[in-house]
Amino acid sequence: MRFVCLLPLLAVFALAQQHGTDPVQLDNGARLYSSTCSVCHGPDGDQVSGVELKRGQFRRAATDDELAKIIQLGIPGTAMPPNNIGSGNLVALVAYLHAMRDFKTKKVALGSATAGGALFAGKGGCTGCHRVAGTGSHMALDLSDVGAVRTPSYLEDALLEPETANLPQHRFIRAVTKSGETVSGRRMNEDTLTVQIIDSKERLRSLEKAELKSYEIETASRMPSYRDKLTAAERADVIAYLVSLKGGAR
Ligand code: HEC
Ligand code: HEC
Repeated sequence: MRFVCLLPLLAVFALAQQHGTDPVQLDNGARLYSSTCSVCHGPDGDQVSGVELKRGQFRRAATDDELAKIIQLGIPGTAMPPNNIGSGNLVALVAYLHAMRDFKTKKVALGSATAGGALFAGKGGCTGCHRVAGTGSHMALDLSDVGAVRTPSYLEDALLEPETANLPQHRFIRAVTKSGETVSGRRMNEDTLTVQIIDSKERLRSLEKAELKSYEIETASRMPSYRDKLTAAERADVIAYLVSLKGGAR
């Protein structure tokens, strides 16, 4: 029985082995690592005491299969959480853990924070959606402390491919009320009976689910990619500015 359950995973790994270390897969693994694992394990995998992910040797896992299981199921009784990720991403993460030692941690260019601040409010149009230290819009999340909670590489990814930052807690909803009004906005909070959103006019609204004709959660990102909207040098300035935002007034 156990054998049967493991088969699909083994097949996936056999496939991955055939393909060797595909750079796109490694890149994907690195991105997943920095968005879900590095909060605890750190960019170099050495922040949890007794665990050195970069060594490629694990106390609790001798095989890729065991490694994949740890990632999926977590380690009960410890802070290591379960992760609900698909097999493709799992393969990418395992590949990345093996390659971490040699993987040049992505170097992110940091420019001038002052110039970045000007771009943030000016050409970048970031304040049209985001807010920093009380200035800007409530439409998307407040970035006042983003430099304290995100790595430069996460920030760069957010600018190039906003989908990578489209975490469930940032989602927008679109609802139609029984009277026919369409309401859309960022989901702030939700319980079984109501959902609270910041609507397009920046008003906090509480909607009774029973009063809604339809209710959808948008999964696509609303943030435009800045791959073409800003030059690489301008992005480096904006990232330096974001990195400098370490909290304080909201
Ligand atoms: C909330 C914090 C946290 C997050 C997030 C987290 N881990 Fe862990 N992880 C831990 C802790 C703590 C341990 C050590 C558990 C123990 O053995 O006591 C651990 C252990 C591990 C181990 C076992 C190491 C060994 O030597 O056997 C692996 C592998 C691992 N984590 C990989 C990951 C990966 C990959 C991710 C991202 C998908 C991740 N972890 C996310 C906290 C975390
Ligand atoms: C049209 C609205 C809009 C504009 C303009 C916009 N953003 Fe965003 N941004 C979002 C939304 C919405 C999210 C939440 C994630 C998602 O939906 O992709 C987000 C997420 C982010 C994140 C990730 C934050 C995190 O903690 O995960 C960063 C960083 C960010 N934006 C920076 C910027 C910068 C810098 C600019 C200007 C160069 C900008 N954004 C312009 C809407 C916008």
